Amino acid sequence: MLTQEQVLEILHGIQDPFLHKTLEETGGVEEIKIKEEKNHVSVKILIAKTNTAEQMELQQTIVNALKSGGAATVGLRFDQLSDEVIQRFQPAAEEQKEESLLDGGSDTKFISVASGKGGVGKSTVTVNLAVALTRLGKKVGIIDADIYGFSVPDMMGVEERPVVRGEKIIPVERFGVKIVSMGFFVEDNSPIIWRGPMLGKMLTSFFKEVEWGDLDYLLLDLPPGTGDVALDVHAMLPSSKELIVTTPHPTAAFVAARAGQMALKTDHEILGVVENMAYFESKETGNKEFVFGRGGGVKLAETLKTNVLGHIPLQQPYEEEDVFAPSVYQADHPSGVIYRNMAAKIIDKY
Ligand SMILES: Nc1ncnc2c1ncn2[C@@H]1O[C@H](COP(=O)(O)OP(=O)(O)O)[C@@H](O)[C@H]1O
Ligand SMILES: [Mg+2]
Repeated sequence: MLTQEQVLEILHGIQDPFLHKTLEETGGVEEIKIKEEKNHVSVKILIAKTNTAEQMELQQTIVNALKSGGAATVGLRFDQLSDEVIQRFQPAAEEQKEESLLDGGSDTKFISVASGKGGVGKSTVTVNLAVALTRLGKKVGIIDADIYGFSVPDMMGVEERPVVRGEKIIPVERFGVKIVSMGFFVEDNSPIIWRGPMLGKMLTSFFKEVEWGDLDYLLLDLPPGTGDVALDVHAMLPSSKELIVTTPHPTAAFVAARAGQMALKTDHEILGVVENMAYFESKETGNKEFVFGRGGGVKLAETLKTNVLGHIPLQQPYEEEDVFAPSVYQADHPSGVIYRNMAAKIIDKY
């Protein structure tokens, strides 16, 4: 169990990444709270520049230091030091120049993937569509912005973490797709501590601080549902077109319609509906069984005045010994072919 003093001592030894002074010198430790029952330490840290790759590195340093000190979980918030303090330590602070939203890629098309609720295959669709677009020769990135369940790295079998070079985060690349995930920047599976505004800042970082290079498409795996967080993300996204994922069940489609309406409210055109888990096809008889009901995708598309881009059956990718990517369908897999057709339709439309 860490005491207030011990936490302070640990933090005081850590440096502000911009001023190159310790947090003790800058007075950067704003608040320490300790929840004894849960052995949870939450701290608020002030630094010279927030929402940067450096902040992400610092975040990991602090979490690791507090955990080695004995904390079970760590909550962390950042804010900016006062101008006065910054100037005291860095009189010639260089002005930060404004950049476009996405560094490098002004022609990039954004596709956000949304759903009414979790578990319908939003991440599976994001990942496979990204891979399919890549197979058609497009340069593609994914931002895994689902703070409740960042799963893109696991689904694609990504084990490495992005590296930080200079002031930029270099995304991890898998099957030619560049990936940045919220999951890269939190402790192993710990519940996420970022809320609304913090999430927005993180997302801005993912646009600005990541070296995406020249992308044709950037796919965003959004948090499910129509809650505050999803709404925030929608509101702050650059103009992008939206894919809505649903299962064929009428109730699921009804819930998904709300997500679609939210997209429209925030001026996001809907690219189409993807009906996932549409049916199960028996290998023996070729018989299709509509295990999760039928018609949800079409109904949703009608409600949102758009089209169904594809009906994807329940199926696992082929097992391969040498490639580990639990959720990526191979190009010659029946589902891989369906994703390829959807990708082609998207390229046609957008
Ligand atoms: N078409 C499918 N066939 C079989 N399993 C699927 C299919 N789509 C998704 N799954 C599985 O269902 C679960 C939920 O999918 P996921 O993409 O994580 O949903 P979401 O991102 O909407 O929460 C995962 O375990 C995934 O592997
Ligand atoms: Mg998901």
